Amino acid sequence: MARKPFYITTAIDYTNGAPHIGHAYEKVLADVIARHRRLEGEEVFFLTGVDQHGQKVQKSAAAEGVHPGTYVTRITKKFLALWEQLGVRYDGWAATTDEKHIHVVQHLLQDLHDKGQLYKAAHKGFYSVRQEQFLTDKERNADGEFGPEWGEVSEIEEENWYFRLGEHIAWLIEFIESHDDFIFPEFRRNDVLNALREIDPAEADLCISRPKERLTWGIEIPFDPGFVTYVWFDALTNYISFAGYLKEGTAWAAELPDFEQLWPCDAHIIGKDILRPAHAVYWPIMLHAAGFPDKAMPRLLVHGWWNDKKGEKQSKSLGNVVDPAELAEIFGADGLRYYLMRDIATGQDANFDQDRLLQTAYNKELAGGLGNLANRFLGMAKRRGALVADASHDCERCQRLRKAVADAIPAYRQHMRGYMVHHAIDAILQVITAANAYVDAMEPWVLNKSENPVDQDKLDAVLYNLSEVTVALSVLFEPIIPTAAARLRGQLRWEMPPGFTLNDLHWGMLPTGHEVGKAKPLFPRVEIEEE
Ligand code: MSP
Repeated sequence: MARKPFYITTAIDYTNGAPHIGHAYEKVLADVIARHRRLEGEEVFFLTGVDQHGQKVQKSAAAEGVHPGTYVTRITKKFLALWEQLGVRYDGWAATTDEKHIHVVQHLLQDLHDKGQLYKAAHKGFYSVRQEQFLTDKERNADGEFGPEWGEVSEIEEENWYFRLGEHIAWLIEFIESHDDFIFPEFRRNDVLNALREIDPAEADLCISRPKERLTWGIEIPFDPGFVTYVWFDALTNYISFAGYLKEGTAWAAELPDFEQLWPCDAHIIGKDILRPAHAVYWPIMLHAAGFPDKAMPRLLVHGWWNDKKGEKQSKSLGNVVDPAELAEIFGADGLRYYLMRDIATGQDANFDQDRLLQTAYNKELAGGLGNLANRFLGMAKRRGALVADASHDCERCQRLRKAVADAIPAYRQHMRGYMVHHAIDAILQVITAANAYVDAMEPWVLNKSENPVDQDKLDAVLYNLSEVTVALSVLFEPIIPTAAARLRGQLRWEMPPGFTLNDLHWGMLPTGHEVGKAKPLFPRVEIEEE
């Protein structure tokens, strides 16, 4: 269990709605991290998927008069289409209605039952028939009553299955205290520890079932067929079921990876809303109770939320949900990917601002910075023909440009490895700025007109240096804007050789005699109609 290949998973998305910008962000973040690790020569397994069971799905399907299976298939297609559109390249797909998953969930439940970790108990409480849920005092209004939104509320008693979570709280506190890399960023780890210390273990057991009279759209409890398991034993288990846990002897063993090779996961990428209690409390305790040793606990990478421009949480009712498919249509997948990575600090929240996406990310940095740089020299380099790698001109400006690239590469690698993609982007932007300043200072269009051999030698050096910078940019940008990076390499007529890693990136990738291709705009102008 040595965390060998880089195994990354993301929270699986609920299929009770359409994908929104928060979903897109999480998947792009995971994809950028995965692509970077591949570029580091690491073996990556990136798992993502959809959370398809539950009350909300059952209700939405009933409202449409369709089977829940039909309903989730339709919603799942929207997620699959979006990942395709955004260039999200994953290795495993976790759909919780898949038999491979049902198999693991049922075995896990049976195992915990055999170990005495599950028990059945009756719960008495106020139940809202309209909302199909038990209500607590939190749902009472100021006058102590349940409001009309709950419909008819009556006191009922219901039996359910419970997981002995409370028994393991002390272990979890100890585990988190002694593993400072379990939760990233650090401040979230402290929040979790503080919350755990407030928990009364005697009150902490977790209800994990629903009787079938209330919920049929779920995974049946194997030792009590009148019940289905509810939410977390179904959803969280995806991380191991699609990584090959308990696949031995099944018909699908060959389709899944080798669990021993993968587990434990280097990073579960999740939003802050599902850190506590689900991922930081239930999940490690579920694994611990099932017999996973401490060294087999996965690590959590917790990202913040995209809110709307005013900092308000995005919600359908506020009418401020941004459709990522539409944005990718307008700005290209790369435009959206770039904005989602450059305007948020991993772990923190950010406000989604379409003006910044258009003006700063797309127009200024992508089109005006990277696109313009390529445009300023590629045409000239193509007309001039063979590049000269060893032009004798080497001024201080040329050296400064080389140094900008040499400094950016390790900074970029370090930030990417630390999940700080926005800082890695800053490192790249510094190279672009340096290169554009170099063009301004060297004025290749003036040199091009001169017949003086000194100027001609200088021009060879300038065109070579700019080509080399652009090769480096096309590699560094590959995880973030893969399509534009590949197009740039196409225009340079340079491909990353098979097995190429970031260790191989150095000054002098292009040999003397190399001929670049035709320059084409990488980021076409975007016109947005004013409403
Ligand atoms: N199905 C559960 C997760 C089960 S994990 C075993 C779920 N689904 S979700 O569709 O509501 O959210 C999926 C992911 O998207 C979560 O990590 C969540 O934090 C993230 N985001 C949802 N809205 C978001 C933003 N506005 N911004 C950033 N990420 C957000 O929770």
